[in-house]
Amino acid sequence: MALLKIRKFPDPVLKEPARLVENIDGKLAGFIDSMVQTMYAAPGVGLAAPQVGESSRVIVIDVEHENPGKHLLKLINPEIVETHGSILWEEGCLSVVDFTADVKRAKEVLVRAWTPEQEEVEIEADDLLAVALQHEIDHLEGKLFIDRISRIKRELYRRKLKKMIRDGEFEKAKSPSVLI
Ligand code: NI
Repeated sequence: MALLKIRKFPDPVLKEPARLVENIDGKLAGFIDSMVQTMYAAPGVGLAAPQVGESSRVIVIDVEHENPGKHLLKLINPEIVETHGSILWEEGCLSVVDFTADVKRAKEVLVRAWTPEQEEVEIEADDLLAVALQHEIDHLEGKLFIDRISRIKRELYRRKLKKMIRDGEFEKAKSPSVLI
C-alpha cells in the first residue's frame, strides 16, 4: 500500500466536481485503503479523493486519533440528506497550507453513502464528525473551506500564498494541526 501525494491549493484538481462512483470493486477498495494510510500518515482526520488527484466521490474520515481505525469511515458517493442547527468551527485542510479559519457549518448532519462492502449506510453525526463530513463532501464539489470565508480573508490568504510560492516556501510549508 503506497502513500499518495496530497495535492495543495491552488492545484486545479481541487476545484473540479468529482464523478459519482459506478463500480465498487477490489481496485477501488485498494485505493481507499491507500487514502486511509495517507490520511493517518499526514496526519489528518479526513481526506477526499480529489485531494490525492482522483476526481471521484470517495472520502475517508477518522476523528478519533486515540483509537485509530475504531471509528474509521470509508464512504462512497456520500450525500447530506438532513442538517440541523449551526456551529462555528476552526478548520484547516491538508490541501491548504499554513492557514485556518472559522467556518459556519450545520451542527448535526445525516449522511447517506455506500461502503467498500457495497452496503448502503446512514450516519448521524454532530460537532467534529459533522464538520468533517461537510468539509470532505465539499471537496467532492470542488469546494474548499476557504471558499466559505469572507472574500477579504480569502484574498489575504491568496496574497500570502503567492508570496510563499515566490519565496520558495510553499513546498516546505506545513499545514496547521487541525486537519480535515
Ligand atoms: Ni480538506
